[in-house]
Amino acid sequence: MNKEAKLDLDGKIYSLPTITGTEGEKAIDIASLRASSGYITLDDGYGNTGSCSSKITFIDGDKGILRYRGIPIEELAEKSSFIETAYLIIYGQLPNRNQLRDYSELFSVHQFLHEDMKYHFESFPTGAHPMAILSAMINATSCFDEGLMNWHWGKANSHFHNYAAKLMSQVRTIAAYAYRKSQGLPLIYPKKSYKYTANFLHMMFSTPYEDYDIKPEVVKALDLLFLLHADHEQNCSTSTVRMVASAQANLFASASAGVCALWGPLHGGANQAVLEMLDEIHRTGDDGSKFISAAKDKNSGKKLMGFGHRVYKNYDPRAKIIKKACDDVLAQLHINDPLLDIAKHLEQAALNDSYFIERKLYPNVDFYSGIIMRSLGIPVGMFPVMFAIGRMPGWIANYKEIMEDPKSRICRPRQVYVGEPLRHYIPLEQRK
Ligand code: COA
Repeated sequence: MNKEAKLDLDGKIYSLPTITGTEGEKAIDIASLRASSGYITLDDGYGNTGSCSSKITFIDGDKGILRYRGIPIEELAEKSSFIETAYLIIYGQLPNRNQLRDYSELFSVHQFLHEDMKYHFESFPTGAHPMAILSAMINATSCFDEGLMNWHWGKANSHFHNYAAKLMSQVRTIAAYAYRKSQGLPLIYPKKSYKYTANFLHMMFSTPYEDYDIKPEVVKALDLLFLLHADHEQNCSTSTVRMVASAQANLFASASAGVCALWGPLHGGANQAVLEMLDEIHRTGDDGSKFISAAKDKNSGKKLMGFGHRVYKNYDPRAKIIKKACDDVLAQLHINDPLLDIAKHLEQAALNDSYFIERKLYPNVDFYSGIIMRSLGIPVGMFPVMFAIGRMPGWIANYKEIMEDPKSRICRPRQVYVGEPLRHYIPLEQRK
């Protein structure tokens, strides 16, 4: 039996039900509060607000725990692949051998875009940001697919498996095309013989004359990065996807909105910002100390990018895995990157600095991921795009969850209005 919370307000006691999650997370259900008391709750930035109950991902930010469908991220990083993990996240169970084979085949079935979409790529200017192209083209896919145009969950339900695979497969093709377009390079078609991540590298780096030499260590590192980004419960972009989905928008439109949210420098754009920061430190000959002082000064406009997290008040478990992968891949590829040394120095300095200790600011997933991507030859502008490819299973699983919930309603938060009280229209000629 769950406890009840008592709220003493305006001389009246209101009883509010509480909910306890599988891992002991506690919540007070305030859904009926406004109707009974006239009050809403206010929580700018949703720091203490649960927007849904979800079965997909568990995070304990204080302990640095992340699990997809109950399985620790460390186990998946060591033993699984991005596609197998995507299946787990979307369908709730690890696939058996046949399911995994069929699922992988679906990606090949859907890897080609509608040929006419090529003309849209052509109309973007060279130098256009690949995130802008990515979100536009994911959304534009609806125009080339009747099933998406006439999306209605009742009908789309039976096709969901297909569309989810199509989205994951095509986001990779669109992402590679977005990169090629941004560089003014000819588009490279996907190849059936390549697996998911290798195929992406092929479309990014092959030329019309020569196939890119796909190194297994590069594939492994990129696949790991995708896997580590695959879901992260109710972050800004996932909440955006759920918000759009709650209006019954189709899967591709909802994912496209997620890309827009992810583009922001405080979210998926942070990995790009980290690399730019490290580069600036390197160029100015700073060992990181000056930058750390600036990051502590609120007037400097600088932050230690790749540090801090709304949820993790401990080391982000993904950052630990990525730091190790970063060392491994650089050694395997015989790359000596001075930015890695700067990053390690910055990390040590920040972890011993009272400003960062008191605020529980630790490295997050973006701190080392940029260095890995740079070593794989992925340009900085593509970093948030890599994040978007990786996050797709999480968005799809959250989309599915909201659509399958018979109690789900359109998301429509309230506000406290603090603007002008009632006043009246002044005709133009009487205005000062
Ligand atoms: N560098 C310096 N100070 C930081 C900081 C950083 N990276 N991140 C947070 N702080 C400080 C804030 O200024 C604030 O200080 P105050 O209490 O003196 O006002 C305090 O730490 C709490 O931060 P706040 O901004 O309230 O945390 P948040 O939960 O709203 O924001 C982030 C979380 C991730 C947006 C924020 O930590 C950040 O901007 N980090 C850098 C960008 C980044 O790496 N994003 C990727 C996230 S995966």
